[in-house]
Amino acid sequence: MHASRENVARAFGGGKVILLGEHGVVYGRPGLAAGIRRGVTATAEVCEHALLQCEPWGVEVECSAERHGGARGEATLAHAFAAVLRDYPELPKVRVRVEIDLPGGAGLGCSAAIGVAVVGALDRFHGVVRSAQEIAEASMAWERVFHGNPSGIDNAVSAMGGVVVFRRDAGVRPVPLARRLWLVVGNSEEPSSTKDMVANVAARHAEDEVWSNRRFDAMAELCGRGERACVGGDLEALGQAMLENQELLRDFDLVTPRLDAMCLAALGARALGAKVTGAGGGGCMVALARDAAAAEGIRDAIAETSGSAFVAAVECSQREAET
Ligand code: MEV
Repeated sequence: MHASRENVARAFGGGKVILLGEHGVVYGRPGLAAGIRRGVTATAEVCEHALLQCEPWGVEVECSAERHGGARGEATLAHAFAAVLRDYPELPKVRVRVEIDLPGGAGLGCSAAIGVAVVGALDRFHGVVRSAQEIAEASMAWERVFHGNPSGIDNAVSAMGGVVVFRRDAGVRPVPLARRLWLVVGNSEEPSSTKDMVANVAARHAEDEVWSNRRFDAMAELCGRGERACVGGDLEALGQAMLENQELLRDFDLVTPRLDAMCLAALGARALGAKVTGAGGGGCMVALARDAAAAEGIRDAIAETSGSAFVAAVECSQREAET
């Protein structure tokens, strides 16, 4: 569907936390994820060449189908930009400026949020009207350049916000929350590559499919419990499912000592659950708090242990406040 083109078009792609089921989603199991308000804003406007500018990274690249040339990260960005531009009829003369308010390589879905924001801004620029789900699907061309075998959960929740259940074969389904979720996100500041972590899990899976499938099935069961807990407003049950999921991630060596210490600090400050979020092996953890005051105490306890932390409130109706 087409609407009128905009000379300056803007769109947002949200960051995310995975509450339950990361890695299992790559193998067709469901994952439960929540969108957060921090994310990426993309602005598209007329320009002589197809250009992508990333702030605050200070990076500017021209659209290029080649992966080679320039610094590795820049070549990958140029290639990902070319991959999404292929969706539009002729190479558009457009500059897309992205403002990134998420740490990269930290499990908060930074690359998916950039992809969703860029596609959203290009759609508006060209007068293309698509649903959030269609934007998520289109932005997978971007995501595949960064993460060899992405399940699509990051892009789906980035485009839709709120809490969702995602399955590779069934797509995304919004989960109606009975009450607001107070989450605390802690960043270990240990770098982690989703591509590498997914490859490590794939190697374990190839070694012993029965062993890994048993754990992916257990993650799927926890995801079902977590969804029911969200719908029923049972925070204890959701926290318990997160704790059990953490042990399954530990089996795959995805919980570093620092992330473990941050989760223990959160639990010491009365979090109802705490676990690694995203690919693991570094990056972020997420804790569930009973309410806003508890969330602040948990944030301070995590920050005292290591890294940095922030509170993210997930509203019953889509993305909302954050402190
Ligand atoms: C990354 O946020 C989540 C993983 O399950 C990878 C994916 O689903 O693409 C680790």
